[in-house]
Amino acid sequence: MAKAKPASELDFNNLGFDYMDLPYRFLAHYSDGKWDAGKLTEDSTLHISEGSTSVHYGQADFEGLKAYRTKDGSINLFRPDMNAKRMHNSCERLLMPPYPEDKFIEAVKQVVAANADYVPPYGTGATLYLRPLMIGVGGNIGVHPASEYLFTIFAMPVGAYYKGGLKPTNFTTSYYDRAAPHGTGQSKVGGNYGGSLLPGDQAHKAGYSDVIYLDPATHTKIEEAGSANFFGITKDNEFVTPKSPSILPSITKFSALYLAEHRLGLKAVQGDVFINDLDRFKEAGAMGTAAVISPIGGIEYQDHLHVFYSETEVAPLTRKLYDELTGIQFGDVEAPEGWIQKVPLD
Ligand SMILES: Cc1ncc(COP(=O)(O)O)c(C=O)c1O
Repeated sequence: MAKAKPASELDFNNLGFDYMDLPYRFLAHYSDGKWDAGKLTEDSTLHISEGSTSVHYGQADFEGLKAYRTKDGSINLFRPDMNAKRMHNSCERLLMPPYPEDKFIEAVKQVVAANADYVPPYGTGATLYLRPLMIGVGGNIGVHPASEYLFTIFAMPVGAYYKGGLKPTNFTTSYYDRAAPHGTGQSKVGGNYGGSLLPGDQAHKAGYSDVIYLDPATHTKIEEAGSANFFGITKDNEFVTPKSPSILPSITKFSALYLAEHRLGLKAVQGDVFINDLDRFKEAGAMGTAAVISPIGGIEYQDHLHVFYSETEVAPLTRKLYDELTGIQFGDVEAPEGWIQKVPLD
């Protein structure tokens, strides 16, 4: 894999969501019951044993967060403490040694600062995406937790999720589930995503942007999209997002619930969203670090496409929520206490 082009040669207005081998990443190693100090490294390859539990048994978890260039040239992180905490929870679910949360945030800042040239300029809508990853390594063959682990954080600049700005897309439902009722749906672990590749591919081939998964026990309620949580806004101005133990606790979702209530004047509700009762919503969307706030045009279920506001126009409250959230992330709108952390640059 070739190293990324120098930042000065990149077209930050036309980035996709693609891997890029940037100059620096953070790497720490766990053995003998403790994490080493970790350090920045230029080596983007991982050298691991063929017996690594991550490779055989999916003992691997990860995170996703972004760094945002502001108008004054500084760099914002959006709620990295929530990513550190969620990764801690994912580690506990897979019997992995959590990486200390304060050191997680510190390492994120180091990676952003070391690759600062690659944080896209303000105004492009592009961001630096960070991927913290932990894997079980070392020689193992039985189904047991590893005794050694690697923790890395790498980064790459990514474009706005939808080229040409915000626009609605259609989603479809699937026969397949992404998570089991008492499984790992609430953890950000690799295994959840392996199983979502087939339904995701089927949805894309049929022209949909993603799958909306239904609850695995009854297939009557919306759970979430393949890489984002769902929201709907009712005709009487409730901002509703599914409450379920098998969906990923999205940081964007918790932020949107707060903004809906405190900045948009909506009533924020977490509860059941029945797939055969979509008429109550005047707007709907998907929300996540990559998806940001993405309007959903319609959802296909049992050969019928239920259109919410429009398949082509962005609904007004969805646009307001998008503007509020991205305004906070890029430093143009005042953030609630503690949501933004600055990356120290020298
Ligand atoms: C399955 C799934 N749901 C929801 C989300 C959104 O979570 P967040 O807002 O924390 O990025 C993601 C992406 O991280 C995801 O992979």
